[in-house]
Amino acid sequence: MQAEPVQPPIRASAVIRNIKQLVTVAQRPIEGASGALQVLNNAALAVYHGRIVWIGPDNEAEPLFLSTRQDGITIVDAQGAVVTPGFVDSHTHLVFAGQRAEEFHLRRAGVSYAELLAQGKGILTTVEATRKADAETLLALAQRRLHLMRDHGTTTVEIKSGYGLDRINEEACLHIINNLKALEERASSSVPQQVRVVPTFLAAHVLPLEYRERRADYLDLVVEELLPSFVGLARFCDVFCEAEAFTVEECRRILSRARDLGYHLKIHADQLSPSGGARLAAELGATSADHLDHASDEDLKALRDAGVVATLLPGCSYTLRSPYPSARRLLDLGLTVALATDCNPGTSYCENMQMMIGLAMAEMGMSLEEALIAATINGAKALALEEEIGSIEIGKRCELALWQLEDYREIGYHFGVNLVQSTLTLL
Ligand code: NIG
Ligand code: FE
Repeated sequence: MQAEPVQPPIRASAVIRNIKQLVTVAQRPIEGASGALQVLNNAALAVYHGRIVWIGPDNEAEPLFLSTRQDGITIVDAQGAVVTPGFVDSHTHLVFAGQRAEEFHLRRAGVSYAELLAQGKGILTTVEATRKADAETLLALAQRRLHLMRDHGTTTVEIKSGYGLDRINEEACLHIINNLKALEERASSSVPQQVRVVPTFLAAHVLPLEYRERRADYLDLVVEELLPSFVGLARFCDVFCEAEAFTVEECRRILSRARDLGYHLKIHADQLSPSGGARLAAELGATSADHLDHASDEDLKALRDAGVVATLLPGCSYTLRSPYPSARRLLDLGLTVALATDCNPGTSYCENMQMMIGLAMAEMGMSLEEALIAATINGAKALALEEEIGSIEIGKRCELALWQLEDYREIGYHFGVNLVQSTLTLL
């Protein structure tokens, strides 16, 4: 008689049980899961050294993990929550002081964002306020915004500098972002809820006032001095490629140097006009091109063919009352579309990714499934972190959002309130 093959036990440090609906957003089919999001009902998952090692029906967790009495195993009761991957917000400007409510209302009275920028307001108003604030204040403000994001289900946040615009202040902003990152990594509490922080260097946000007559000097400063000395402080280098900010040639120079120094690349592209930014992103192999309100079909095809993620930021259309870019058009052309808040005091003062999903569904032609993919795994792709985060799959990090819902399909339908109960990040 042949003996039954014995499965070796799976080592686990934590098991999350009692999940009503596990919305995995998995890229490969998961046994027992269904639909575009690979949803599993009455599920559990196990984690070892911060990696997901097992996903399955809740009733299989007991014999696999609990009766084997593995030492020190932690059991987390999800209490019937719906569980999704935590949101990956791949485009934010969280380090700033002050606010621009006055300009917001001027715009409602008919003054355009570009006019304000040309008058030395807009981004420059925030640069002035940020330069005046001390590091402690800036850190506290950014941390409050970061924790608001977390409380709405976000577990990864990219944060850009870009309101310093000189050596001292850009460096200070990058240090604040890295301090936030370290504080999150060290945070300990009974419910682990760290936010993963990804720093981006954005000195080419707009030309600072004091360089108005010395444009070339600012570019030299960024390319020859700041980029080399900030290696290690930022994963990405970003630029604002726009008539009111930097030309395609200037952006090419900055990003080529950044790429040679080992930064990954991002571009604010074709936001206010057809700026050529998307083409440049394709040419340089940027990780993402963001905004894209004025990108042509040819621009979009170039992005698709170069494997650049298209990041759409519906908060800007909401705030500027400009037409929403059609996500449907991008999806139909075969692009990888991500959604992000762009949280900043000018064009999108919002920390809440649930709001972005709602807007994308109401105004941009996305289905809930497409919007959830865009806010999780495609956000991870926009940060070149898709091997680590963005979906609930074996081998990935356990970075989750727990929702107080009957069914994930209530997202985007039940609107205007926070449906997330908490995030959960197991190390
Ligand atoms: O992504 N477009 C450039 N940067 C931001 C706006 C920043 C601001 O207005 O302060 C954006 O929309
Ligand atoms: Fe932005």
